[in-house]
Amino acid sequence: MTKRILTGITTTGTPHIGNYLGAIKPSLELARASEESFFFLADYHALIKTQDREKVRSSVTEVALAWLSSGLDTDKSHFYRQSDVKEITELNWILSCITSKGLMNRAHAYKSVISENTIDPDKGVSMGLFSYPVLMASDILIFNSTHVPVGHDQIQHLEMTRDIAVRFNHIFGKVFNLPEAVVQKKGTTVPGLDGRKMSKSYNNIIPLLSDEKTLKKSIAKIVTNSLEPGEPKDSTDCNVFKLYENFSTEKDQISFKKEYADGISWGEAKKKLFLLINAELEPVRDKYYELESNKKFVNDLLEFGAQKVKPIAAEMLERIRELVGISRIS
Ligand code: ADP
Ligand code: TRP
Repeated sequence: MTKRILTGITTTGTPHIGNYLGAIKPSLELARASEESFFFLADYHALIKTQDREKVRSSVTEVALAWLSSGLDTDKSHFYRQSDVKEITELNWILSCITSKGLMNRAHAYKSVISENTIDPDKGVSMGLFSYPVLMASDILIFNSTHVPVGHDQIQHLEMTRDIAVRFNHIFGKVFNLPEAVVQKKGTTVPGLDGRKMSKSYNNIIPLLSDEKTLKKSIAKIVTNSLEPGEPKDSTDCNVFKLYENFSTEKDQISFKKEYADGISWGEAKKKLFLLINAELEPVRDKYYELESNKKFVNDLLEFGAQKVKPIAAEMLERIRELVGISRIS
């Protein structure tokens, strides 16, 4: 079977180094070794999280620039906006009709909103949030993807995608592959400035596409304990060290650990982290500046990308419509 990679990033807010390390970089590496790859901007997913029109609009451009600056090759990979492929939302409805409410009740994205905000689930949870795993399943299944690179937080959604695919295949006949999540090794959830998972929703990010000064300022904000220079420090559970681990070799980590034990100051430790991250992000930033001045080019790339994938989605949807009985009268 052809290996078909697919992944998306929700277009709310500014892409951050968690997105880069957890999704963009591994996806691009996987794409280099695969026959086919699909990368998209999940803009309909963004509406679940925000009603701020400007935020959605600007985030589409930023997330597109993040992919392109990180090295996405649009000659080799399909690159498109979710909302340009209307077949996805049509499939979303068809799949909604075979997905049990009980399956969605278990979705942690919806459950965590309830537990974090102590909101009344009957009033505060939109249907979009509740049934979001079905839209995600539609993104994946419409292209019969085989491998979906995602962060740990998305594993459950991939399991649900498989459940939905199995159910559809069982009722209507085998049409969907059962896609696999491709997850970075354990422990690669990138921590944010406050030690929680780095996330646009938590306001604790280090932006991917910032200038050097902003990067330095973000790193300076990483929360640490108040041990003085010269006092031995423990690298376990340290936010600076956890971020360092994501960019360094094992050898560098051993020597950084020793510097902790020898009492490195937080200022010095953060400087080391900055130099490391900056070195990795420099080429990304250069490409970003080049593309940022040509937004029309980025837009054209996305439109061209949509034109290339739409026939694939349309053919799949036609098969599905036939199977469920929504075909033309002949
Ligand atoms: P956010 O939580 O900032 O809204 P998204 O939900 O849009 O990020 O995530 C897009 C992709 O980036 C997903 O595959 C997700 O697993 C990955 N990702 C997001 N945050 C992190 C993180 N802190 N560490 C590793 N991967 C992450
Ligand atoms: N839900 C994913 C996230 O928040 C983004 C996403 C939407 C996605 N559709 C997808 C990821 C399909 C992989 C495949 O991170």
